Amino acid sequence: MKKITAIYPGSFDPPTNGHLDLIERGSKIFDELIVALLRNPEKAPLFSLGERRLMLETMTENFMNVRVDIFDGLMVDYAARVKADAVLRGIRAISDYEYELQMALMNRKLQPDLETVFMMPAEQYSYLSSRLVREIAQLGGSVKSLVPEMVEQRLKEKLDPAVKLRDARNPKSGKRSGKQR
Ligand code: PNS
Repeated sequence: MKKITAIYPGSFDPPTNGHLDLIERGSKIFDELIVALLRNPEKAPLFSLGERRLMLETMTENFMNVRVDIFDGLMVDYAARVKADAVLRGIRAISDYEYELQMALMNRKLQPDLETVFMMPAEQYSYLSSRLVREIAQLGGSVKSLVPEMVEQRLKEKLDPAVKLRDARNPKSGKRSGKQR
């Protein structure tokens, strides 16, 4: 029987418990799920690509059919390269729907064979976003239970004034080497 591969694309800056919830749901219905991290030169992310990759790999290490990858360019081209059958996206609220519908239909126009599958995260994550997590952490609020403990720790380190100063003086010092696959 044909194995169904899906990609779960996104920025994951940082990955949250909502992302993890969706990964868990996706891993149950797809044979293989690739968490596809977008390399976006136009955005200045809080976490480097390597840092985000490492966080996602750590979060998903217990899911045997999940792997993390980095892509650039058109998502449909990446999907074709890894022979994906579907794209997994989360819809939290009606406000997500319009943007997600537009993207799904545009992707279908570009690649008619690629299906977009929408899943809803658990209710407690319906108001959660990476943007809000970044904002709360940057303003000194608690992000406990919104992100995995390891991400909470990385946020603390990243936003610690002493670490920021060290990174500013020596940009390479804060970089972690991403686990290679
Ligand atoms: O985490 P995000 O920012 O909601 O993810 C958006 C993402 C990465 C899925 C989207 O921006 C994307 O697919 N970018 C790759 C470029 C592309 O294919 N653009 C055309 C979309 S119709």
